Amino acid sequence: MVDRHAQLRLDGTEHELQIHEPTIGNRGLDISKLRGTTGDVTYDPGFANTAGAKSTITYIDGGAGILQHRGYAIEDLAANATFLEVAYLLLFKKLPNEAELSVWKDSVRNHTLINEEMKRFFDAFPRSAHPMAILSSATTASSTFYEEFLDPTDEASFHESALRLMAKMPTIAAWSYKKSIGMPYTYPKNSLGYVENFIHMMFHIPAVEESSIDPAIAKALNVLLVLHADHEQNCSTATVRGVGSSQANLFASVSAGIDALWGPLHGGANQRVIEMLQNIVDDPDATATSMIARAKDPNDSFRLMGFGHRVYKNYDPRARVLRAYADEVLDAVGITDPLFDIAKELEQTALEDDYFIERKLFPNVDFYSGLIFRALNIPTRMFTVMFAIGRLPGWMAQWKEMTEDPDTRIMRPRQIYVGDIDKTYVPIEDR
Ligand code: SDX
Repeated sequence: MVDRHAQLRLDGTEHELQIHEPTIGNRGLDISKLRGTTGDVTYDPGFANTAGAKSTITYIDGGAGILQHRGYAIEDLAANATFLEVAYLLLFKKLPNEAELSVWKDSVRNHTLINEEMKRFFDAFPRSAHPMAILSSATTASSTFYEEFLDPTDEASFHESALRLMAKMPTIAAWSYKKSIGMPYTYPKNSLGYVENFIHMMFHIPAVEESSIDPAIAKALNVLLVLHADHEQNCSTATVRGVGSSQANLFASVSAGIDALWGPLHGGANQRVIEMLQNIVDDPDATATSMIARAKDPNDSFRLMGFGHRVYKNYDPRARVLRAYADEVLDAVGITDPLFDIAKELEQTALEDDYFIERKLFPNVDFYSGLIFRALNIPTRMFTVMFAIGRLPGWMAQWKEMTEDPDTRIMRPRQIYVGDIDKTYVPIEDR
């Protein structure tokens, strides 16, 4: 690779910045020596123009609406791969052959139980507890049962920790739901597949005869999880990497990622989209046009949830898959949903509006995902939990890549100080 440099002229002095060449996409101007040589730092709120790492996991072309995981297009993975297959690809850097996938599935299946002592942990929460609070807390709490696997520098410990998190996250999620409805916890069954087990733990009630799991629902859940599996350096992944950069263990890093995902500007948007659509349906005066007008009004804090993206300035390819798939799922479960009609009307109105066109605001993954979760009878407050279950293998693969990267340093950004200096202390009696 040709060793190329950029020239930075600062106060009459030329500084050379090494250029890091990508396989594809943005080049990187290396500023790692900038402060040492100039005394200056760069300013980039939200790091929208700053790469914190080199990665081989996920490539996004925001302008073209392209998303690939280790080179495989998201459309191909959603159409052909199971979630555990994609998790294997992300974590072990290749698609598994049949034998490898079988071993992986069995390994996950054999660790789906959570320690019985965790029951008291769930009981301690109020029934009104948001399942994301339980999920994040239970993830960190789980680490206390695996102290022997917490060394972030040990390969075998990573595998053991990652396996337990993959296996137990659905159980923790389902139990947080059962807790919220005052129903007994349903234990996992090793005879079931990954998504089927989750559906079983979510919806089976001990007093009722076991019902078979609709393959269409299992397939839909599988596609949804695949579409959420990773998304390069998004807010929650950057958080997982950042927490892990202090050599905190995988459980603690993932727990921090869950908390970052919860925000309504990130993974929490899927819950807010449904609440927004429901409000429109419930409000006789609200129309797609009136809501678009509110979203455009700088004096109105309302935003069109599920629209816009830091990277995509084109249709989010995941949203494209979900929009087409929503029709199929609603047909399969035999329902129509007025919220889906409103969503399509909102999308159509927004995509024809100059405000959205100029700002390149398109539907993102959260705009249609909630409609499918709803069709699967997953309660709205569990939507971001579903996002977390899907994103888990991505978070762990990114965390592992961070620990293996020789360039990794503890995350510690700089600042531009604009406050007071050298003030004289005033005793309280004189203030
Ligand atoms: C996810 O990063 C990832 O990869 C995330 C994710 C993943 O898989 O991990 O893809 C998942 O988080 C998807 C995003 C879910 N969030 C939402 O749907 C919330 C609504 N969208 C936004 O709040 C916003 O678009 C963000 C947070 C997603 C992106 O914010 P940016 O990049 O900081 O953009 P911005 O807020 O600076 O907006 C630029 C302009 C502004 O207008 P002006 O100041 O130029 O006049 O666009 C406007 C914004 O007001 N704008 C919107 C809008 N989103 C941006 N206006 C109305 N409705 C919106 N949804």
